[in-house]
Amino acid sequence: MNISHALCSSLAVLSGSLLSGTALSDDIMLPAPDKKGGKPLMQVLNERHSTRSFTDKPIPVEVLSSLLWAAQGVTRDDPDYRTAPSSRNSNEIEIYVVLPEGAYLYKPETHKLHQVVQGDIRAATGTQDFVGTAPLNLVYVVDQSKQPGDFDAKRKQVTAAADVGFIGENVYLFCTSAGLGTVFRAMLDAEYLQRRLRLPVFKKVLYAQSVGYPSNS
Ligand SMILES: Cc1cc2nc3c(=O)[nH]c(=O)nc-3n(C[C@H](O)[C@H](O)[C@H](O)COP(=O)(O)O)c2cc1C
Repeated sequence: MNISHALCSSLAVLSGSLLSGTALSDDIMLPAPDKKGGKPLMQVLNERHSTRSFTDKPIPVEVLSSLLWAAQGVTRDDPDYRTAPSSRNSNEIEIYVVLPEGAYLYKPETHKLHQVVQGDIRAATGTQDFVGTAPLNLVYVVDQSKQPGDFDAKRKQVTAAADVGFIGENVYLFCTSAGLGTVFRAMLDAEYLQRRLRLPVFKKVLYAQSVGYPSNS
């Protein structure tokens, strides 16, 4: 099942219709991630690279589930402990999942997606042409209200950048193992994307990452 069909059917159950205009407050439960298998770590490290050309093949929702869990999923009984470390364990980085049908906030605690925007805003996630057609763009946002109060502005900046980097590398490694292509991206208009994602002022766009099946061209 691809993401479009899975999300549509999930929302159809939850709220009537993806396009109804009533779905924005609904959460979509992702299937359980597959935490087993994959290629050996050393092989994945050797094969990791950036990809900037994707086919239009949608990413199956089961793959999206495992990808998001690999990125920042919960690994222990305490939901504050994730696949990616974070400074002071503040978990201040949020992942927005931008798909053709809308933008969703990934909630690691419940492994759910929460819709924040309806419609296709993929082109707003970066300044390179391929982002508008990549099947999936992740947008990394820092929730400044979660950052340690005793950190000065510079320390907040460097710790948030490091915390995103761990997540981005997790996504690279998962994609390499799963036969997906990906590229981490700094080239974006953060203020424009902030508006398109309807983020409050204390949440700031940092980076993005495109994902899809690589095309040979
Ligand atoms: C912080 C950061 C920002 C990056 N920004 C972009 C970007 O905006 N666009 C892009 O095409 N690649 C971007 N990249 C990918 C790098 O260009 C890429 O990792 C580098 O050329 C090495 O290639 P490789 O990933 O295939 O090993 C970024 C990488 C990092 C770590």
